[in-house]
Amino acid sequence: MPSKAREQLTAFEQTWLDQLNAPLSAAVAADTTDDRLAEAMTYSLTAGGKRLRPLLTVATLTTVGGTYTAERDWRPVMALELLHTYSLIHDDLPAMDNDPLRRGEPTNHMKFGAGMATLAGDGLLTLAFQWLTATDLPADKQVALVQGLAHAAGPNGMVAGQAKDVQSEHVDLPFDQLRRLHREKTGALLHYAVLAGLILGDVPTEQRAPYLDFADAFGLAFQIYDDILDVVATPAELGKATHKDAGEAKNTYPGKLGLVGANQALIETIASGQAALKRVGDGRDTSLLAAFFSYFDTKRVKA
Ligand code: IPE
Ligand code: IPE
Ligand code: MG
Ligand code: MG
Ligand code: MG
Repeated sequence: MPSKAREQLTAFEQTWLDQLNAPLSAAVAADTTDDRLAEAMTYSLTAGGKRLRPLLTVATLTTVGGTYTAERDWRPVMALELLHTYSLIHDDLPAMDNDPLRRGEPTNHMKFGAGMATLAGDGLLTLAFQWLTATDLPADKQVALVQGLAHAAGPNGMVAGQAKDVQSEHVDLPFDQLRRLHREKTGALLHYAVLAGLILGDVPTEQRAPYLDFADAFGLAFQIYDDILDVVATPAELGKATHKDAGEAKNTYPGKLGLVGANQALIETIASGQAALKRVGDGRDTSLLAAFFSYFDTKRVKA
């Protein structure tokens, strides 16, 4: 039987996914002047994907009492999904993880070639920033969103983490460095997902810490779980290749601690994120954000 949290997350997804997804292909096509490039960008964007990052932004905005207005907020919210999809296209390239399958379809470079896949990623990355500013939001909010996403995605965030990831194949990283790698390559975009909701919802800086601590715990849990799934799940289930990390001698929690140890670290990380949400004041109901932890099935690994 699904838990209450799982039901709450599923209901939230049902409310939002179609609204967020429906305008995507036409909006990308309208902003791209080369048909093949638009096709390559849209191919990966619409192949599937859980949309966890934009959903987290909307959930945060809702939690802090803000209102989502499609006309004003859709592009800024979905900008993060463009950027995330670019990161996946480049992550899969032959020169990176060299993966054949993503979101249940052949990877972008398998379908369009490595050159066009690189450009599709470049296009999505750049369009993300165009969309952050193609909005009626006040200029100070636009600047805060642009700075937040640039910081999260660039050379002090996701790209730095990916750089550490490729450099540390076949190198045994100490735990503090592995946590930093995860924080950068995966945690930074999830941190921004929550931050964007706080910015859109006008939450003052001094009230943001518990939400961002939640985001950081969610981000670390997310990569630990991704690395557990690489060991225990199937390509049919995930829509991407599995059993990749050990072969490439990636630094992962399961690689360092074994499956049971990694699952224990996952459980502890989830608990720290739930504790962070309890620190949110103002009598806010944080159950929707807590429901995102139901994405992690900690029972897949038997103790
Ligand atoms: C995969 O992210 C990349 C990681 C950070 C581990 P997701 O699991 O959110 O991928 P999609 O968007 O659902 O395809
Ligand atoms: C995260 O790591 C990827 C990005 C930051 C884009 P992985 O390389 O483990 O992600 P998957 O397993 O290919 O989705
Ligand atoms: Mg990778
Ligand atoms: Mg990968
Ligand atoms: Mg992975």
